[in-house]
Amino acid sequence: MLVAPSMLSCDFGKLEQETIDICKAGADLIHIDVMDGHFVPNLTFGPAVVQSISKVATKPLDVHLMVENNTFFVDIFAPLKPRYISFHIEEEKHPHRLLQKIRDYGIKPAIVLNPSTPPESVEYLLDNLDMVLLMSVNPGFGGQKFIPSVIEKAQRLKDLLEKKGSNALIEIDGGVNNENVIELKEAGVDVVVAGSYVFKRDYKKAIQSLKV
Ligand code: DX5
Ligand code: ZN
Repeated sequence: MLVAPSMLSCDFGKLEQETIDICKAGADLIHIDVMDGHFVPNLTFGPAVVQSISKVATKPLDVHLMVENNTFFVDIFAPLKPRYISFHIEEEKHPHRLLQKIRDYGIKPAIVLNPSTPPESVEYLLDNLDMVLLMSVNPGFGGQKFIPSVIEKAQRLKDLLEKKGSNALIEIDGGVNNENVIELKEAGVDVVVAGSYVFKRDYKKAIQSLKV
């Protein structure tokens, strides 16, 4: 399992040191939750703040957009050269076009599905994306309770990926801990995002406990 700690749960007063520490502790990707106060009722990082993370990060960034105007945010975060940019399908009229735009920047494109969005909604986009992120909480805040129906959804998505011959990764975001990660692994999940679980513990031990 790859582990992407979410910087949403770090100490914002020590952003650079937190980034250095979480990279050293064994993170595979650094998950950045970009919220605009419109798509979700919370406001987080702009590009200048994310730049102070990327400047010291020794692991690639995984930018998760929770915003209304996806294209605008893709354009302002692309210059930071994250490994992934993901956007919510519920908020995008032209997902196929936007995936291509992200790819044209040399960034791996990914799509995020809210807890109520079926996995089949990405069926005709699979040739154009590198990862599908399934939300296991409602987007907007860290520290929420894991919604267990995502496990069956991940299995259905895995079947769909196999049927279509897609190598896209499956990522899960929200309420992940050392217990539910086992079932997620069995369901075919490749990457877990973890915020409060990692940042409330010894970072290295917490990340290790998710690498099942
Ligand atoms: C929620 C964010 C998550 C969140 C995860 O909108 O997308 O990445 O930070 O935090 P935990 O692991 O605490 O649920
Ligand atoms: Zn996220």
